Amino acid sequence: MGKPANIVVLTGAGVSAESGIDTFRDGGGLWEQHRVEDVATPEAFERDPNLVLRFYDMRRAAIQTKLPNPAHDALARLDREWRGKLLIVTQNVDDLHERAGAARVLHMHGEHLNAWCTYCDGRSRWTGPLIDRPACPRCGSRALRPDVVWFGEMPYRMDEIHAALGEADLFVSIGTSGAVYPAAGYVRLAREMGVQTLELNLERSQGSAWFHETRLGPASELVPAWVDEVLGA
Ligand code: NAD
Ligand code: APR
Ligand code: ZN
Repeated sequence: MGKPANIVVLTGAGVSAESGIDTFRDGGGLWEQHRVEDVATPEAFERDPNLVLRFYDMRRAAIQTKLPNPAHDALARLDREWRGKLLIVTQNVDDLHERAGAARVLHMHGEHLNAWCTYCDGRSRWTGPLIDRPACPRCGSRALRPDVVWFGEMPYRMDEIHAALGEADLFVSIGTSGAVYPAAGYVRLAREMGVQTLELNLERSQGSAWFHETRLGPASELVPAWVDEVLGA
């Protein structure tokens, strides 16, 4: 493939797996230990807010003990050194891309380290628990929830993502099973717009057949090698 100028990178749980954060759908993954409909839907929050808040409090605490791995580091290097346009779109709610030093990151499924006030619609950085119903730093009401997109809710910043795909020369999907839309549909969208597509994943994803090229292996090896290629190292 020729030298790309505009790159859109999509990441999923697989990019953080080697940092010790469980993926969702692999063996022993989060959705084997918890029912999605118990912890990750607006209905679940309505029915049993304590259960949902406890689940996210545990995850918020856990991710803060994890560190970026060589895949995050390599994407941060690309973010710093790439002279064309680059957008990292992540489905992950952890902050490991940012902690590795990447600046151009868009969290389409929200962020664990944000709380969203459903009263004033404000978002605040939040590292502690929410179970005790702390006051919103902006308006004082006790209506904070995790700022993560639940099933049945609309992912964030879809217009920007579509616009970036429309301008891209290369779309790279890393560490995602291709099970959850709309992210799972980006490869097809990219192809329809004439964009080159590359998949880096441990195993073939559900949308694998749509990619021009698939490389299988751990993200900690595949991503640094690919970034070296792109930056011409
Ligand atoms: P969807 O279209 O993928 O799913 C449609 C339905 O299938 C939903 O009713 C959902 O509950 C169910 N479903 C999907 N995957 C499932 C699974 N692995 N096990 C059991 N049921 C499953 O979902 P959607 O409504 O379009 O999701 C909206 C967005 O919310 C998605 O982008 C999703 O990734 C996101 N989300 C985020 C988190 C989080 O913790 N950050 C959790 C859940 C969903
Ligand atoms: N390197 C590369 N890929 C890996 C690694 C690794 N070390 N470990 C696992 N993978 C791959 C798996 O093979 C799998 O295809 O990462 C993928 C992880 O898939 P999922 O667990 O389904 O995670 P993801 O695609 O990010 O899930 C999408 O679902 O519930 C929602 O909101 C949640 O954002 C999440 C969305
Ligand atoms: Zn508020």
